[in-house]
Amino acid sequence: MDFIKVTEQKEPFVALVELNRPKELNALNRQLMLELLETMQTLDKNDNVRAIVLTGNDQAFAAGADIKQMADQSAIDMLMVDQFSTWDQIRKTKKPIIAAVSGFALGGGCELTMMCDIIIASETAKFGQPEIKIGTIPGAGGTQRLTKAVGKSKAMELILTGRFLSAEDALFYGLVSKVVPVEMYLHEALQLGKEIAQQSPVAVQLAKEAVNRSFETQLDEGLAFERKNFYLTFASADQKEGMKAFIEKRKPTYSGK
Ligand code: CAA
Repeated sequence: MDFIKVTEQKEPFVALVELNRPKELNALNRQLMLELLETMQTLDKNDNVRAIVLTGNDQAFAAGADIKQMADQSAIDMLMVDQFSTWDQIRKTKKPIIAAVSGFALGGGCELTMMCDIIIASETAKFGQPEIKIGTIPGAGGTQRLTKAVGKSKAMELILTGRFLSAEDALFYGLVSKVVPVEMYLHEALQLGKEIAQQSPVAVQLAKEAVNRSFETQLDEGLAFERKNFYLTFASADQKEGMKAFIEKRKPTYSGK
């Protein structure tokens, strides 16, 4: 892997995935995205991993899709390359992904954070969809996910002007779940990953699926989906163990079965 670094942290099973193309502010070229997909698919199959933290570096999470790679492409080139099919497959990762964001999260970088399940930001984080400034529009879900995250008016402002959203504002609008000093964002995300990794992996996967369903369906369908996944947890040993441990006033031990 040229552009992705993976570190597995044992006990309790959190994998740290770092985007590693610092000179280009982690611009997301096709090779990087293919490597990210391969990484996510491998981690999804690894029983020792229960939560994934995705990060860049202090200066940049990622400054967008690689403009140099796209600049001369025709519409038909873009259609045939179909780079976003890689993104669609990354979105299918079943394990929870926490984005630990510092510095620039722009264009495809912002879209990648929004494909994650939780975003932790450093005080220096800057989110934005500045594609309008280079004569195009978001292509990896920005018009849809940003609108759902911050509401129509703010999303329109950001997407139509290319302005950046500060970490503080991102928290205010609900795009991120927490903002911490730059020295702390990675630690905070790893701690969150550890806390999630202590839960039943079966229940975590079903809960992630159900929350994501809320973006894709009307309320009735979403509620029915949630209910089925809720019932399904009762087929797991983890549910039996979790409830028994509560009644016996002890900590549960989850097997992931
Ligand atoms: N693609 C390719 N290269 C990029 C890049 C990108 N998205 N963003 C930064 N870089 C490169 C720069 O070209 C520069 O390389 P060189 O040293 O070889 O010139 C290097 O990274 C450092 O960047 P800057 O010198 O520009 O750094 P800065 O601190 O002055 O500015 C910035 C930082 C404001 C983030 C600026 O780099 C910038 O505006 N980047 C582009 C942001 C953008 O428009 N992103 C959207 C891309 S399109 C997209 O993502 C479509 C989609 O929906 C998937």
